[in-house]
Amino acid sequence: MKRFFSILLTISLVLGLAGCYRTQPTEPTEDDTFVIGFSQVGSESDWRIANTKSMTETFDGDPDYEFIMENARQKQENQFASVRRFILDGVDLIIIAPTVEDGWLTVLTEIHDANIPVIIIDRSVAVWDENLYLANIGSDFMSQGQLAVQWLEKQTFGETETDETDPASTDSAETTVKILHLQGTIGATAQIKRTQALEEAVESHENWEITSQLYGDFTEAKAYEVMTEYLKENTDIDVLYSENDNMTFGAMRALDEAGITYGKDGQVKIITFDATKEALQYCLDGKIDLCVECNPMFGPQVKELIEKYRNGETIPKHVHVDESAYTADDLTQEFVDARPY
Ligand code: AHR
Repeated sequence: MKRFFSILLTISLVLGLAGCYRTQPTEPTEDDTFVIGFSQVGSESDWRIANTKSMTETFDGDPDYEFIMENARQKQENQFASVRRFILDGVDLIIIAPTVEDGWLTVLTEIHDANIPVIIIDRSVAVWDENLYLANIGSDFMSQGQLAVQWLEKQTFGETETDETDPASTDSAETTVKILHLQGTIGATAQIKRTQALEEAVESHENWEITSQLYGDFTEAKAYEVMTEYLKENTDIDVLYSENDNMTFGAMRALDEAGITYGKDGQVKIITFDATKEALQYCLDGKIDLCVECNPMFGPQVKELIEKYRNGETIPKHVHVDESAYTADDLTQEFVDARPY
């Protein structure tokens, strides 16, 4: 099938006849294996590794599919190179987990012109023409951020501060909540939306303040590095809002080394995103206060969409996976032990 489409593609490129997506299921040929090219972001986090596993396990071992995954090592230009290879190989469908939202128009147009359907997973792409992809399946990152700030609204921080020399100030000066914000890869949907939810909440809460935004690139090593540096000069932190678990682990190590306590009985309340098994264990043990879930195990849902497409059925343009948020009160050891990622 792959070689067949490669020849077809070459002919259509030469004749300049490349056109719209196939809207009908692929015609069977002598080899009717359905070939998928998948450009994965990288292996920056435990979430990502679980997502790769979910995707590969879903398709590997199914004789109907050939699944080719390329790891972009968190670089968009690597994704462009992979996608162009997939086009030349004449794959039947391309899956892209985009590193960042911007910059996809040219390459998506190339895929479109090659008449290959595309499914965007996990994060999103910022292109106005939604016909350039078949579907986008992943998390509702805005809702995740909103779950986090809604939880934060319910927390109490110290005593109300009033200015005794100014009688008019009695009900105005609540304790300032100092929030340290660790950000993931700038321009990735997970970063954009989680940041937006926090910044909007800070706008509407006079006593919330983002003391600093540190760039952790969704990795433990980077977060540890920037946190270690930051804590040399700054220790006045009430909340750590960390945009993924691995950055949280790096930050916790830096806080430990700086002698700053955190979690249930500590100085810093920790909010983290992903809710991996390790983070949930920390939460159950009172070291992390809130784990907002980001579910990576949607390989089977992607396959379901593809099968519907192959059967000529209509598929939804946007699909969000089910997610929740956990404090220690919501967890049991059995639940944590059963966590698949
Ligand atoms: O896009 C999903 C995010 O990317 C996850 O929160 C993070 O862990 C991953 O690297």
